[in-house]
Parts: sequence; C-alpha cells; structure tokens
Amino acid sequence: MTMEDRQLSSPSFEEVAASRLSRRAALKGMFVAAGSAALAGGVSRYALLPGEAFAAAAKAETSAPALSFQELAKSITEDQQVAAGYKAQVVVSWGDALHGGMDAFDPLLLTPAEQERRFGYNNDFIGFMPLPVGSQASDHGLLCVNHEYTNTELMFSGLKGESAKDLISEDQAKVEMAAHGHTIVEVKKGKDGWAVVADSRYNRRISFLSTVCEATGPAAGHARLKTKADPSGRKIVGTLNNCAGGKTPWGTILTAEENIHQYFAGNPEGTPEARNHKRMGIENKPEYGWGRFFERMDVSKEPNEPNRFGWLVEIDPYDPSSTPKKRTALGRFKHEAGTCVVNPDGRVTVYTGDDERFEYLYRFVTKGKFVPNDRKANMGLLDEGTLSVARFDANGTVSWLPLIHGKGKLTAENGFASQADVVIEARRASELLGATPMDRPEDVETNPVNGRVYVMLTNNTKRKPEQVDAANPRANNAYGHILELTAPGGEGKAANHTADTYQWDILLLAGDPSKPDVGARYHPDVTSNGWLAAPDNCTFDNHGRLWIATDQGGDQAKRGVPDGIYATQVDGAQRALTKFFYAVPRDAEMCGPEFTPDGKTLFVSVQHPGEGSTYDKPSTRFPRFKADMPPLPSVVAITKKDGGEIGG
Ligand code: FEO
Ligand code: CA
Ligand code: CA
Repeated sequence: MTMEDRQLSSPSFEEVAASRLSRRAALKGMFVAAGSAALAGGVSRYALLPGEAFAAAAKAETSAPALSFQELAKSITEDQQVAAGYKAQVVVSWGDALHGGMDAFDPLLLTPAEQERRFGYNNDFIGFMPLPVGSQASDHGLLCVNHEYTNTELMFSGLKGESAKDLISEDQAKVEMAAHGHTIVEVKKGKDGWAVVADSRYNRRISFLSTVCEATGPAAGHARLKTKADPSGRKIVGTLNNCAGGKTPWGTILTAEENIHQYFAGNPEGTPEARNHKRMGIENKPEYGWGRFFERMDVSKEPNEPNRFGWLVEIDPYDPSSTPKKRTALGRFKHEAGTCVVNPDGRVTVYTGDDERFEYLYRFVTKGKFVPNDRKANMGLLDEGTLSVARFDANGTVSWLPLIHGKGKLTAENGFASQADVVIEARRASELLGATPMDRPEDVETNPVNGRVYVMLTNNTKRKPEQVDAANPRANNAYGHILELTAPGGEGKAANHTADTYQWDILLLAGDPSKPDVGARYHPDVTSNGWLAAPDNCTFDNHGRLWIATDQGGDQAKRGVPDGIYATQVDGAQRALTKFFYAVPRDAEMCGPEFTPDGKTLFVSVQHPGEGSTYDKPSTRFPRFKADMPPLPSVVAITKKDGGEIGG
C-alpha cells in the first residue's frame, strides 16, 4: 500500500465538521456556517456559498499596526515585483564568490572545487544571525542559507529535462553535490543597501560533496547508520536537500533535510532496509544521476546510506571550524522547519514537520534547560528529550503522542528494538501511535506576540472525500491551509509548549474565495489580489503579523498566480485578511522569509527562477538579465524606501 493509498479511518466528514463548527460557533459566537454549496470534485462541505465569506474570529485585540502597503496585482513577469514604496535588492546569488581572489562567476567554467567556494544553488531557508554574536544588530550579521536542490538543466548548457540526469558527467554530478547544503556568509548594510563581506572569516560552504557531519543522539553509531566508508556510523559526509530550518535560542542554525529520496539509485528490494526505504520514497527512481558514479548513492550497494539523511542538522555559524551535528533525537523523515521556543520552565521545544502528503507534525522537548548567555552549555540540548507526533481531534484538541521506545506499540515485536529504530523510522512509529496524516506540513512558526503556533499545510490533491478530517477539511486540497495551535499557560512567553495537549483552530483555508467549490476561508475583505495558494514558509514580524511564502510549483503558470509573500494580522479585526506584498520572477518559488531584529529588512529566497526551462533557453534571466547568464537563484533584501519598518 502506498502512502497515498492509505485509507484513513475517520468519522464521516459531516460528523467531524458539525462538531468542529459548533465548537467554533460556541467559542466565538460569530461563525458563518459553512454552506452546502455544490460539492463538485469532492470538495468538502467547508465550501462556502457566494457571499458567505469566512467571518474572521477576532481572537484578541491587537496593538499591531495595520499593514499599510498597497498590495500588488497578481501578474507573472520575468522580474521580481514588490509593493510600491519598497525596494527589493539582490544580496547574493548562485555562483557568487565567498572568498578573496576568485574570478567572476562563469557557469560554463564551474568545477566542483570552485562550487565549494561559491554560493550554492536553490537557496531556501534563511537565518539572519547578528554580529557580534548575541547582539540584536540589524545592519551586520551572517546570512545562513540552505541550498535545497539543483536544477540540472538550468545549471549546465546542452541538457534537457528528464534526460539531464543520464547525460551529466561525473564532474557535473560533483558540481551538483557541491551546490547542495548550506552557506554562511557575512553581510553588512550600508548606504547602498546590503552587501556581502568578501573573504570574511565566517564565510563557509557546507556541502553534500565534502563536509563531514557528526551524528549525535540515539541513532549515532547504530548499525543501521554504518557503511563501508564509515564503520563508526557517526561520520557522515554531507547534508542533503536542506529545505526549511530554524534558529536556536543559543545562536545556532537548524537545517532540515527534506526530500532525500530523490538522489538514491538502486533497488532496495531484498535489502534489510526495503520497508524503511519504501516509506521514505526510495524506490529506484532517482531524479539525479549521482548513482551512476558513486556507490554510496546506490542502495543496492550501500543500503544504509539513506539512513544517514533525513535529519535536523545543527550548525554553529559563528565557529567556522565547527562540525555540523545531525541531531537524531529529533527523528528522521522529510524534515521541514526547526522552530525553537523557550518554555517558562526553561526547557526548549522544537517544532518540525514532515512535508509529504499524509505525513505528520512533530514536536521535540529537551530534557535539559536552556542556560541564557552560555552558548557552550546549550550545545548538547538537542540530544536528549522527547520527540512527539500530533494527533488532531475534531473537538479542537491536539494531543502530542510521545515516540518512546518500549511504550505502546513501539516495541521489538513491531520492529523497534531501541530508540534508534524509533527515530530512524519515525514515520512508521507515528502511524502506529495514531498520528493525524496531514496535508504536507512544511513550515511551523511560533508567534512572538501571542505565543501560538502556526502550521503551513502546502496542499494535498490526493486526499479523498472519505479521508477528510477536521484539521484537513478539504478533499483534493489543491490550495493548502494554515492551522493555529494554542498551547496552554497564556500568551507570548507564558505559553507552555511542553503540555500534552493544546487547542487548535484554522487560520485560513487558501485558494480563490470567489469560487465556491474551492471552499476557501479568509477575512471577508480579502481582495482578488490578496488571496493565496500553497502556503509553504512563513515568519513573524515583531508585531506578531504573519508573513507567508507560497509554493505552487507548476500551478503558478496554470493559475496566472505568481508565488510570493503575503502578509496578514492573526489577531484583531483584520485576522486572516491576507495582502499580496512581493512576487517572484517567472517559474520561481518563494522561500526563507526572515526579518532583521529591527523589522526593517525582510530577506527572502528566490528559488529556482526559470524552473521547467533550460540553460540555453531560460524562461527568465533573473536577476542579471544578461544574454550569457542563466537565471540565478538569489537571496533578496526587501527594505522600505523611507527606511521604516516593513509593513508599516
Ligand atoms: Fe522543500 Fe517542502 O519544500
Ligand atoms: Ca519549500
Ligand atoms: Ca520559517
């Protein structure tokens, strides 16, 4: 049975919706009942009748200023677009030199060794880490940037789509491997905007090709992590498919290894890891040509290699000689986000998602307590604690189910001989505990003002009508939604993110609210430009306003809706009133929104501009627009022309 085919046993949707809606109505006294609009195409009964816009729940008053920018019109162009009164400036792009004495970038001359000294491909998560360490500097710091994947046909001339993986040379495969991972680069804001500090001692590439990482926690050194090249099971070359991420309170970066399956060739059948690999999507269908050249990329030859990826990896960007640590206590799956919050008792909670249809939302709570102003004391905090997975109930409760070896079904009888097995196969363990299969949980962020937790659910067109539940209420969910979790204890820092249960609610159901069969729900005043699709990454500003990055993939062109940044209040009268702020260039995706501490710069990642086209005939040449330069994935700094806070 494939993941997509798993049938979910759940009460009928009407039962679920009825109980959930009556709770909402009772709580807020202002809910507009979901209409029984035409349910064509398996769209759930959350669909609204025309004019029955979602009555936004004014959860609490807000002192946040109104979002004052004039929103963009929805249009797809070859260049980026930002709301009037703002400036969007490219800070660093694929191929930019990170060290002194290097030539200008020429993609046709790129070698693996060069790529390891230049900014990587497909920038994703961005962490701004102020300099000096521990300060709140907003004009000087380190940009810590993930490089999720490579577009072979856009990096190299003469290659096309599907066949590119079969045509690349070993050297080109190595360039791709070197372009994955992470970059740390020092940046400064001057009178002309943001610029890279050339040859900074902090500038560093962490790549899949060569950077040795260390496994720590329960799976470190386990037999299932051992390979011919690494009999210790602890020294792992590289980090892979680094997508979303997070920052710890002690000033390190968490980078999430997501779609690791697409790199591994070879048939897993007949290996001891066959079931495990199947669950992670490793099925001898690689999207890259690396397995043609490297034994470790072929699971028939090195079946344990994939077990060394799919982790959250902790990087200390302030120490250029530090070894990245794969924190296995936080589980192995297609990780997204590593959002940390310090609890009233000093323990630290990390939220993280598994971005696949019907996979789960997770939380890790450290055993030890955070020690302020002592970085060293906190460096091992993520090696001990409790990993839990979320079950969403129709009564508005979310329960955190602990993934602990020996408890419940997580026993040797079920193939879990130790906690190492539990974390290596966290998906299977979570399924046995009855976790709720979600619509692709990507970013998870905590709101610094109200203390609530927001989960971006990108979409899930495979969810069938009989599979809907209260927290994933639409079948054929093409547009995604955003959930809001409330931990007990109070607002902001008083919230207790260690509690066994929280309450949950829906912030919005994405899609075009003018089309009843979409079943979208926003504030009633959302405009034709302000509605969004495929919420994917997000961040909060200092006022607790939510900034959402979208990822529709190829649907952008079909819908005529560009990906970009949308902002909304989450409290007060303008809750769920999303406004369109920034649009990516053609065939790109929006990732990595990150504010400086003063809220005056918003960094964003323009990922894969021109995806679907080729080096020789790209659909955009963003950002240089020169005839001999392909599109370049880039980090962009958005500032207000009058120097004020983003969003007003
Ligand atoms: Fe790499 Fe889930 O996006
Ligand atoms: Ca993403
Ligand atoms: Ca984020």
